[in-house]
Amino acid sequence: MSLTVRELEITEFDLVLDYFHDATPEFLESMGVDPTRIPDRQSWRERFRGDSALPVSQRSAIVLLWLMDGRPVGFSSCDKIKVGERANMHLHILAPDGRNKGIGTEFVRKSVDYYFDKLQLKTLFCEPNAFNVAPNRTLQKAGFKYLKTHMTVPGSLSYHQAVNRWAISR
Ligand SMILES: CC(C)(COP(=O)(O)OP(=O)(O)OC[C@H]1O[C@@H](n2cnc3c(N)ncnc32)[C@H](O)[C@@H]1OP(=O)(O)O)[C@@H](O)C(=O)NCCC(=O)NCCS
Repeated sequence: MSLTVRELEITEFDLVLDYFHDATPEFLESMGVDPTRIPDRQSWRERFRGDSALPVSQRSAIVLLWLMDGRPVGFSSCDKIKVGERANMHLHILAPDGRNKGIGTEFVRKSVDYYFDKLQLKTLFCEPNAFNVAPNRTLQKAGFKYLKTHMTVPGSLSYHQAVNRWAISR
């Protein structure tokens, strides 16, 4: 089994759109996502296209595709980017039956390497919903350190919620 990560092409962005637009309310709730904050497909696609054309120091996000034996099985995005300093990552396996089988941890490790290299980071953060067990355990297993639990709106799609802040520094 080969696990690889690479930047997602603009033509592949529908995978991200489908993931959020086709999700059940319960699944979105578990990730701390407010369905009313998910942009419509067209404007989100256009925003990604525009952002992808910018130099990396001006990008609002980078999206990595996770491939198993060449097939897309998940993605990670990275936002709040300050090149040379810090960024925040997110992690998603697409199919429910692909989760909790050990691949997420490996993809997170590979994504972390990519973000540190591409963005010359000192620290990479991740702030999953405090009650969402899978990402919290995965981050710890992938080498992130727990910093604190606090109330915040962690991302542009999120509602106000309790999150755990995890960080990895190099
Ligand atoms: C978060 C996610 C990417 C992790 O990937 P994964 O392939 O499921 O994780 P792994 O199989 O590598 O498991 C890593 C650790 O998490 C634990 N874990 C994974 N899913 C779990 C679950 N549903 N409940 C409890 N523990 C879980 C595993 O047991 C393992 O820990 P351990 O080896 O110490 O027991 C994946 O579960 C996912 O996409 N979840 C839905 C999306 C989501 O919630 N994203 C987070 C948004 S911030």
